[in-house]
Amino acid sequence: MKKFNVTIVGGGSTWTPGLLKGLCARQDTFPIDKLVMIDVDEERQATIGEFAKILFKEEYPDVNFSYTTDKSEAFREDVDFVFCQMRTGGYAMREKDEKIPLSLGVIGQETCGPGGFAYGMRSIRDMVQLVEDVRAVAPNAWILNYTNPAAIVADALSRLYPEDKRILNICDQPENLLRSYGRLLDMSPRDFDPVYFGLNHFGWFTHLYDKEGHDLLPKLREMILEGGFRPADYEQRDKSWLETYAMVEQMVRDFPDYLPNTYLQYYLYPDKVLKKLNPEFTRANEVMAGREKRVFEECNRIIENGTAKDSHVVHNDAHGEFIIIVAESIAYNKGDNFVVILKNDGIVENLPNDAMVEVAASLTANGPRPYAVGEIPTFYKGLIEGQFAYEKLTSEAYIEGSYTKALQALTLNRTVVSALKAREVLDALIEANKGYWPELN
Ligand code: NAD
Ligand code: G6P
Ligand code: MN
Repeated sequence: MKKFNVTIVGGGSTWTPGLLKGLCARQDTFPIDKLVMIDVDEERQATIGEFAKILFKEEYPDVNFSYTTDKSEAFREDVDFVFCQMRTGGYAMREKDEKIPLSLGVIGQETCGPGGFAYGMRSIRDMVQLVEDVRAVAPNAWILNYTNPAAIVADALSRLYPEDKRILNICDQPENLLRSYGRLLDMSPRDFDPVYFGLNHFGWFTHLYDKEGHDLLPKLREMILEGGFRPADYEQRDKSWLETYAMVEQMVRDFPDYLPNTYLQYYLYPDKVLKKLNPEFTRANEVMAGREKRVFEECNRIIENGTAKDSHVVHNDAHGEFIIIVAESIAYNKGDNFVVILKNDGIVENLPNDAMVEVAASLTANGPRPYAVGEIPTFYKGLIEGQFAYEKLTSEAYIEGSYTKALQALTLNRTVVSALKAREVLDALIEANKGYWPELN
């Protein structure tokens, strides 16, 4: 079986230990020769890198592992897959993305609304650099990208590298949702053949076929309306995530056609959600006090003990497993179906061709082969077109350094609406992001 060389960008990510455990678990189906991790934060990555050495010695001795801050070691001509999960500005900037809008009475969220806009403007620069670094040495490597806000990153990269067919942006939330439906129905996420449309963090499942071709969506809808909705891994989830999943019941009650992505709560009920968000303690604070602390404490404990045999660092294995099974399907031309982010080009008939839509596709060695969605109803089309205009204007604001387009983007966003508010939030975010964003004129 052919072995592959993988580079992980953002080796110091809180999700990396789970991903590394996933690579151990799938060493028979996705065997790796060389695995390199790279990060800009030497110390943060070293904790996870030293944990990884112990883990691999015990569980994956064949893999040739190293970690580095040196691009020439991480990006080489023999790399087959680049798994990307970087966070420009770290949690310190995420905290500002969430708190600045909230201080002005607007939704403050990592990937949605003005917070997502601010994060997007930071991520594009580093992701463009990443593509340049990889393509300088490995024109054929697959770049599988988790870096958020994936919608904005995907839009910008597709405008800047329209001919590059080996950049694939992915999100683990449709996979998390499939796992949650699976737990309700006592099925595996791989038992479903889903139909999904939308933009990243802005989409809906329209059908969920089982192996016999029966659509399980109507049954799931009834179950959610009767019993509510929880994440598959609810035992490990923070309170805010449980509240987010619980909002699915309201969305299904109000708009029963399809099953929504959880992120739609910010756009459909900004008034209600805003009341629940605490401007003094946001999700960034919850993550720093929770997942980040747990992951690094656990890695340090393992380093001290010299063994990972009793480790429990995997927080949410959907994230780690999803990117590996996506890579596996491409690597071995398996053609498995996953929900991924692709240039529309007619997949959803009545949406613009240049939108980066999230849809089901068969993943082959020659890339994604999407399934046609056809026309979507007016309500969904209207919502998506507004959000797509916001995303496109955000990319253009970055590329052209345009203040006007940034203001237009935020004004269009359903979490903002007022142009006066948009200007106020934008000016505060420009101030907070000095050195990260291009200058806007
Ligand atoms: P984190 O801050 O713990 O990890 C990110 C790491 O990236 C840090 O160690 C940081 O030093 C490093 N980094 C920053 N800039 C870099 C650069 N230019 N090159 C290399 N490394 C760099 O954050 P996290 O919460 O673990 O999330 C990691 C990323 O994955 C974020 O972008 C997050 O939004 C994304 N994510 C996406 C999905 C999805 O569904 N698409 C799911 C989970 C996480
Ligand atoms: C979901 C989303 C991701 C997001 C992640 C973690 O899985 O799809 O895009 O990064 O949640 O969010 P958190 O708030 O826990 O860092
Ligand atoms: Mn996501």
